[in-house]
Amino acid sequence: MEKIAISCILTVYNEISSLSNEQQQLIVAATGALESAYAPYSKFKVGAALLMEDDTIVTGSNQENAAYPSGLCAERVAFFTAASQFPNKKIKAVAITTSYPMDQPIAPCGACRQVMAEYELKQDSAIEMILHANQQNIYTLQSCRDMLPLYFSGEWLKQ
Ligand code: THU
Repeated sequence: MEKIAISCILTVYNEISSLSNEQQQLIVAATGALESAYAPYSKFKVGAALLMEDDTIVTGSNQENAAYPSGLCAERVAFFTAASQFPNKKIKAVAITTSYPMDQPIAPCGACRQVMAEYELKQDSAIEMILHANQQNIYTLQSCRDMLPLYFSGEWLKQ
């Protein structure tokens, strides 16, 4: 028997001005996406913005439904929109934010992490993750899979 530790490296920013202009712009885009969030049930609005390889930005916001499981998180709205509209463009980064007052950056749900892992594998390159609470609380991760090391792999379906 052995135990293994799986670690995840976060970069913690206490001041938004320490991020690059590109990272800050992506946070601004994710914040803008909050305006289209449809969250009448939870009142918890989430915005996501993806930076594509050609610097196009694709946004998404959470879309709720009276039949609760029929709704979708902001991250998956953004990733599925990007994959549908630009199937051959790589995604460089994703920024995620919420209008809910938080003192710790928002973290994507497990289902969204699995979706992000899939697109990293599809494009064969990492997608940087930027998690934003407010101008003083931001985390970045070099790869979405850092947050889901034991993702379910499509390789297992090929047997
Ligand atoms: N939500 C997201 O959009 N992204 C996440 O990563 C977690 C949760 C949404 C789903 C639902 O509309 C609301 O937040 C409350 O769970």
